[in-house]
Amino acid sequence: MGQFVVCKVSELPPSSRRIVRVNGREIGVFNVKGAYYALRNLCPHQGAPLCLGELTGLAVSDEPGEIEWTRAGEILRCPWHGWEFDILNGRTIFKSKARVKTYDVRIEKETLERLIDGVESYPVTVENELVILEY
Ligand code: FES
Repeated sequence: MGQFVVCKVSELPPSSRRIVRVNGREIGVFNVKGAYYALRNLCPHQGAPLCLGELTGLAVSDEPGEIEWTRAGEILRCPWHGWEFDILNGRTIFKSKARVKTYDVRIEKETLERLIDGVESYPVTVENELVILEY
């Protein structure tokens, strides 16, 4: 398994995405309410660039006339024919065996230590959090 540095955490705020190319494959990395997910940018229906699709949610109903909007920003709609996928697990939201490949994403601290030249020098530490894709 390999690792790919996608970006700094600050460059991928909630409700945003980045599409990266890793080993010849395009993968979309999403920040959904502060959690990170990655999906292959290839719709299993007919091959559309799925990760360019609209982020949406689900309308659910327990009884006629009652509709509740849930899971806003957790559903990805394919730009070609509108199939919808759960970003959290890559499955379609309707009963189908079609599924888009998912990847693990983790956050890692990057620590850089620098010495400043001068008569007296002191170590300076810079910390960033990085979004790491595992493929
Ligand atoms: S290519 Fe994605 S729904 Fe058809």
